[in-house]
Amino acid sequence: KRGRRKLIMAVILAVIVVVVIAIILAVVLSRRDDDFKREFMGRCQNACLEFKCAVLQAYINKDHCEVLPEAYDPVIAAAPMESACNRLMFWSKTKDVVHEFTGKKDCFRTVEDSLLGSVLDDLVWCGKKGSNETFTTGCPGWKGCVKSPVRSFWNRISAAFGDSACGNVTVMLNGSLQTPFHNESIFASIEVKRFTSPKVKALNVVLVTPENFVTNCTNASLQNLKMGLDEGIGYGCSEVSQLEACASDPEKPCGACW
Ligand code: APR
Repeated sequence: KRGRRKLIMAVILAVIVVVVIAIILAVVLSRRDDDFKREFMGRCQNACLEFKCAVLQAYINKDHCEVLPEAYDPVIAAAPMESACNRLMFWSKTKDVVHEFTGKKDCFRTVEDSLLGSVLDDLVWCGKKGSNETFTTGCPGWKGCVKSPVRSFWNRISAAFGDSACGNVTVMLNGSLQTPFHNESIFASIEVKRFTSPKVKALNVVLVTPENFVTNCTNASLQNLKMGLDEGIGYGCSEVSQLEACASDPEKPCGACW
């Protein structure tokens, strides 16, 4: 009987020890989880703060029309462009079409898909001389002035996006226009100029063209684009009229729409 009691005591003791060890382990592990969360949130807030400060410094306490693209240099440094060789998609006068396409087929990246671009896409902001506030109304629009905070930001980020181009790059241009490659556009005046050989192998123009439209790949402005490319960069052009249907077709793999 005494032996049995001893055995029962030993089993109870063993169970107690196991439970205590399990509790200690659970506490230690949950502390580690908490430590991780705290550390993660702390670093995240620091990164966010650094990013936010860099953005604010570009335009706060400055006249509406006196913000240069270079003012955003620290912002670009805080959130550099992710490298995506062969997947970069540029555009001009095709913003909606491009994003409808990239939204359906996840094979290309536009500047609006980058961390920085996605955070500020479609937003309007400005500061004011003598004030530490940010304004979202009464700010100069795109045409309001050349050195507006919004316009300068997109000029600067587009330069960084152009710099990050490598391999085969694609641009969607608007085949409904007489001049799909327009000299004053950001694509022509900033991005194309930053494509350098041999980093960039080729530029593929996708000319989004409604059925029976006059503008095609022989268009004079596209010849200018081809001739102006850095020596060594290849050039191709495809006219596409059924882009929407192709984008929605799950059978069509990436890049098979032109
Ligand atoms: N008025 C208002 N908004 C304008 C104007 C203007 N005159 N010009 C440009 N924008 C703004 C609009 O928000 C428009 O959607 O810039 C955007 C792009 O202008 P587009 O003329 O369509 O094209 P582009 O100037 O070539 O810029 C697109 O820039 O940000 C990069 O990678 C992106 O390749 C893309 C290129």
